[in-house]
Amino acid sequence: MSDRPEMYEGVDEVWLDGEFVDFEDANVHVLTHALHYGTGVFEGVRCYETADGPAIFRWDEHLQRLYDSAKPYDIEIPFDPEELTEATVELIDREGLASCYIRPIAFYGYGPLGLNPANSPVQVAVAVWPWGAYLGEEALEEGVDVAISSWRKYASSQIPTNAKTTGAYVNSVLASLEAKGNGYTEAIVLNKEGQVAEGPGENLFLVRDGEIFTPGLAESNLDGITRRTVIQLARDMGYTVYDQATISRGELYTADELFFSGTAAEVTPIRSVDDNVVGEGTKGPVTDEIQTQFFDLVEGDLAGYDDWFTDV
Ligand SMILES: Cc1ncc(COP(=O)(O)O)c(C=O)c1O
Repeated sequence: MSDRPEMYEGVDEVWLDGEFVDFEDANVHVLTHALHYGTGVFEGVRCYETADGPAIFRWDEHLQRLYDSAKPYDIEIPFDPEELTEATVELIDREGLASCYIRPIAFYGYGPLGLNPANSPVQVAVAVWPWGAYLGEEALEEGVDVAISSWRKYASSQIPTNAKTTGAYVNSVLASLEAKGNGYTEAIVLNKEGQVAEGPGENLFLVRDGEIFTPGLAESNLDGITRRTVIQLARDMGYTVYDQATISRGELYTADELFFSGTAAEVTPIRSVDDNVVGEGTKGPVTDEIQTQFFDLVEGDLAGYDDWFTDV
């Protein structure tokens, strides 16, 4: 295949259903159940370069979320966590990557079509590739311009919001397309009630008067692992963090600082919302402190968080 996206250049293999296969052979049938009905669950994880070599950040929590995401869909992942860990560590090692993004996915494969997936086999893959700053290096320093999406986040009474389900990501795709189409870098999605939920692939934090707020999990946002990390880091740094907040659209406009958290986005400042400048219109001091601490942490330079790393 000559049209391989640049981001995958140099990647030799993918782990698929128990085997390491050539990148070009990591394929599925067009009648794959998940392709038609979105019946897959996935994770996004990062492996960072540390002084002790590559280390996967909070792998156990990501793996736990993968198995949890699978539950509502009766997706029985035919590998245990130890097997997926071994496969992933070996894949990173075989690729010789110092740091990378990791995409595990489990999905109903090629079987009889129809909404009942019971007779479709569950397939599992893990792919890795080098991936820099998701919203761009400049975004980490200068912040991003975001817009409130006209698409609302689905409620957990419609689709489980604590699961990372492939099909449900059409909601995020719509929000991203709209934001980018209107000249913004990213969207913020409100929930059914009109309160702030999250970004299409990020959780959101607000800073006001030196205190930190993030929407509670009942606001239809994902239980982000970076969100959990930021909450703990900020508390360890002495900040007061309200992690069950309800945040209105108007509060975004008057916040001192806003930032996104996510495995892909890491800690990215938000400098404007709907063309309203947030704070000074650049990375604020609290965001800066948390972002610095976050990168020190994931690069293995902070003592006391060893449990969060899986060495490759
Ligand atoms: C919708 C959504 N919210 C939040 C996040 C952030 O979650 P995490 O920090 O676990 O990557 C993600 C990314 O996985 C996401 O897709």
